[in-house]
Amino acid sequence: MRFPVPSLLGLYGVLSATAVSLVLGEGEGEVTGLETQDQPPHFLSVRPSLAKGYESEANIPTKKYFTESSFHHHYDGRFANSTLPEEKVIPYLSNLIQTYLETMNSIGAETWIMHGSLLSWWWNQKIFPWDNDLDVQISEPTIHFLADYYNFTDHHFEIPGVEGGRTYLLEINPNYVVKSTKDRLNVIDGRWIDKSSGLFIDITAVRPDDDKRKRGYPEALMCKDRHHYDESDIFPLRDSYYEDVPVKIPYAYAALLAEEYGAASMTKTDFQGHHFSDESKIWEKYSRKMKRILRRAWRGDDLPKRSGTEPLIRMDDV
Ligand SMILES: *[C@@H]1O[C@H](CO)[C@@H](O)[C@H](O)[C@H]1NC(C)=O
Ligand SMILES: *[C@@H]1O[C@H](CO)[C@@H](O)[C@H](O)[C@H]1NC(C)=O
Repeated sequence: MRFPVPSLLGLYGVLSATAVSLVLGEGEGEVTGLETQDQPPHFLSVRPSLAKGYESEANIPTKKYFTESSFHHHYDGRFANSTLPEEKVIPYLSNLIQTYLETMNSIGAETWIMHGSLLSWWWNQKIFPWDNDLDVQISEPTIHFLADYYNFTDHHFEIPGVEGGRTYLLEINPNYVVKSTKDRLNVIDGRWIDKSSGLFIDITAVRPDDDKRKRGYPEALMCKDRHHYDESDIFPLRDSYYEDVPVKIPYAYAALLAEEYGAASMTKTDFQGHHFSDESKIWEKYSRKMKRILRRAWRGDDLPKRSGTEPLIRMDDV
């Protein structure tokens, strides 16, 4: 089992939400948020909202709620006009996931990492140095809870070395109530957006797969992005660390990673121009010399190809 406990570097304590402001949805008469209560109920106690009627399949939205910037699909154009300089991407992503995990933890909202982020966790509990996005999931009670109590809330964090800190926006797609995978335009249920850079994390909800359950699979789960799971793949969640803050990990993480990326994804130590150093436990960028050697080794499947269609050995000779 791989559950190392890295040093916290003091970050978990340093990052603390210092202000939560709430913008009410336009035209909504009722006050649903933090202005009236400091401590919203734990998400399990808002279970009645689970009964909220899903729109019928005939009402599949024709509009995409979340929009990405024209310059990069991992940036929100409302908050930026350009991508970050390359060397800033990983530090910003690191703060993005730290503040997200810290916030979800402090409001009692169940979330865990998945896909590429889970694979990078498997190696060294850190974001891959070549990553430009992060993947998190939440359970269905959590999406209702966030939509009801935390939609469009700002979360301000003081971040060491960042003057004035940064503010993050939690935004829930109103089409989260449409459960159908036919809603191709709204597969992302929520976003955690860094208002200083426009970088964001996509949040997807994992829900009971009602159709499959009716066909005799009582554990079936699904996301609108068409990923399917069994309850025992994900629950009970495990505790670990990611980017030095506490994180939840799906129960059957190795099986999930093998299924999504192949078993070699957990053993292959050369990837995306980086080598995983057993000693430092980090993905180190290839030096020029190393690149030259590797390029030579890879030449094997780059041999000159004969032109023409004649086979070298005629089948009736064999
Ligand atoms: C992006 O550029 C436009 C046009 O120059 C400007 O109006 C807008 O404020 C800029 N947005 C941000 C987030 O910097
Ligand atoms: C969240 O708030 C935004 C901005 O007011 C709104 O457009 C969106 O519909 C809201 N989402 C939900 C789930 O109510």
